[in-house]
Amino acid sequence: MCTLSRKRSISYLSFRILFMEQKRTWWKEGIVYQIYPRSFKDTTGSGIGDLRGIIEKLDYIASLGVDIIWLNPIYDSPNDDNGYDIRNYKAIMTEFGTMDDFDQLLAGMKARNLKLVMDLVVNHCSDEHEWFRQARSSRENPYRDYFHWWPAEKGIPPKRWSYFDVNEDAWQYDAQTDAYYLHYFAVKQPDLKWENPIVRQEIYEMMHFWFEKGVDGFRMDVIPFISKDTNYPEIEAQAPSEFIAYYANGPKVHEYLNELNEKVISKYDAFTVGEGPGIHINQALDFVHEDRKEMDMFFHFDLMSLDRKPGEVFTMREDRWKLSEFKKVFNEWDSAFAKAGWGSLFLANHDFPRAVSRWGNDSQEHSKNSATLLQTFLLTMRGTPYFYQGDEIGMTNVCFTDIKDYRDINTINRYETVKNNGGDLNKFMDNEQHTARENARTPMQWDSSSQAGFTTSKPWIRLNPSHKKGINVAYQEQENCSILSYFRKITALRKSNPSLVYGDYECLNPEHEQVYAYTRTQEAQRLLILLNFSNETVHFSLPKHINYNRKVKLISNSLILDEQTYKELILSAWQAIVYRLE
Ligand code: GLC
Repeated sequence: MCTLSRKRSISYLSFRILFMEQKRTWWKEGIVYQIYPRSFKDTTGSGIGDLRGIIEKLDYIASLGVDIIWLNPIYDSPNDDNGYDIRNYKAIMTEFGTMDDFDQLLAGMKARNLKLVMDLVVNHCSDEHEWFRQARSSRENPYRDYFHWWPAEKGIPPKRWSYFDVNEDAWQYDAQTDAYYLHYFAVKQPDLKWENPIVRQEIYEMMHFWFEKGVDGFRMDVIPFISKDTNYPEIEAQAPSEFIAYYANGPKVHEYLNELNEKVISKYDAFTVGEGPGIHINQALDFVHEDRKEMDMFFHFDLMSLDRKPGEVFTMREDRWKLSEFKKVFNEWDSAFAKAGWGSLFLANHDFPRAVSRWGNDSQEHSKNSATLLQTFLLTMRGTPYFYQGDEIGMTNVCFTDIKDYRDINTINRYETVKNNGGDLNKFMDNEQHTARENARTPMQWDSSSQAGFTTSKPWIRLNPSHKKGINVAYQEQENCSILSYFRKITALRKSNPSLVYGDYECLNPEHEQVYAYTRTQEAQRLLILLNFSNETVHFSLPKHINYNRKVKLISNSLILDEQTYKELILSAWQAIVYRLE
């Protein structure tokens, strides 16, 4: 009897594993294109991108072969942190347009089979939101409990680190009610109190509002931070990364995500991707295992911290990152989701430097091949790939050297911190050239004209002069072998080869410091991907267990050298090749 039920449960288990491996969904198969509306396309001559600018470019976006657009926040905001400080969750930022523009944008996307993912910023709002204006007015105000307060009569609150605070202090004293409020980010971004069920109801109701309009999902900003221990105990953390890990492990984070899923997400054919700073790989499935009904995938931060000093968020490490370390991150995260859950793949976004400058080589000689190699990488790995606007044309870091060119609260406030502490400002500015978020935020380069086709007036932030040097859409549209034309080919390749989405991944050379070689296998189809992450020509041997009768080239970003033999391959600098093994 006992044996029988064990057998039954084993076959049920294998059935479930099989079922999970084969469960197909649009958000696993889709390719995401992220738009930073402020820097995408200005149609009013204000120097700031707008929703009509996105509408104007919808045919272009559809032509890239992407399926889902993720829009950075477009809600009403005083823009202390470029829209991540929301004043009204149900209104459109005046600079970006109107609700009517939004409805037209969504209709235009639907007409082209593009899905829309909005940014959901609910760990905090703006101090100009009506909730906070009310809350700070008196201790008795009904909105008081929408936020986290520490009454001053209890003394100084236990240390909490803040991302954008000049004193790195997440508690801000507010004289009006003689109390401190909590802000993990800027002073103007007070944290919402999820422990209050009314706050959660407000958030769910707002999400329904957008779903009823027809949006397809949310990218959930710093979502693991929402749950707090409201006793605000002393904690041991010292380095920023320790605080972040603490913030991501609040006592009720899973309860809240589960409730959010049940009350909102489960009612629609929608998907959610969380921004996951502080989530350790061992906890990954707790957030995204299908059975837990929390979220569908999240962005881990292991790759984003690879070139940073241990424990630090913004400071570069002294030596260069190694390819073996890069592979280790992807190998570990792929295996975390091999049987359940699902991963997201990204090399850049609005918070990080440009992919080609960070993970490739943005010199004149190598930028084209390294940009297309990185595209090949994201589109041949398992997980949902996310591209950031401009990646399709190989946009590079702008590397501002003057603090006056920066608009980002992150750089500006940290500059103040260094200055106030008598730190080395030259060193700080050197670091920012490689790490600053502005590298990703300069306007999209549509053509080589003086304002790159982005605006007719002065852009809100300086342009990258590289638009004059072939890094622009108009130029690359005409060139046969441009980064842009390669991007269209490689998105099409992913679409026509389901093994690139669902196939098993095997890394063939975890220790090699120049070549990243892997296979993607699904049933009889096996694809071999070879990526030379170096400035040199490399001779590379395939491991013994990789046998085949013939290899058919599906795509390459440069000419394949003839001297290749059966297992000895020669890859030119930054060459990417995808073969089908038969
Ligand atoms: C996320 C956003 C970032 C923002 C921060 C605070 O990390 O991606 O741009 O500054 O949250 O909302």
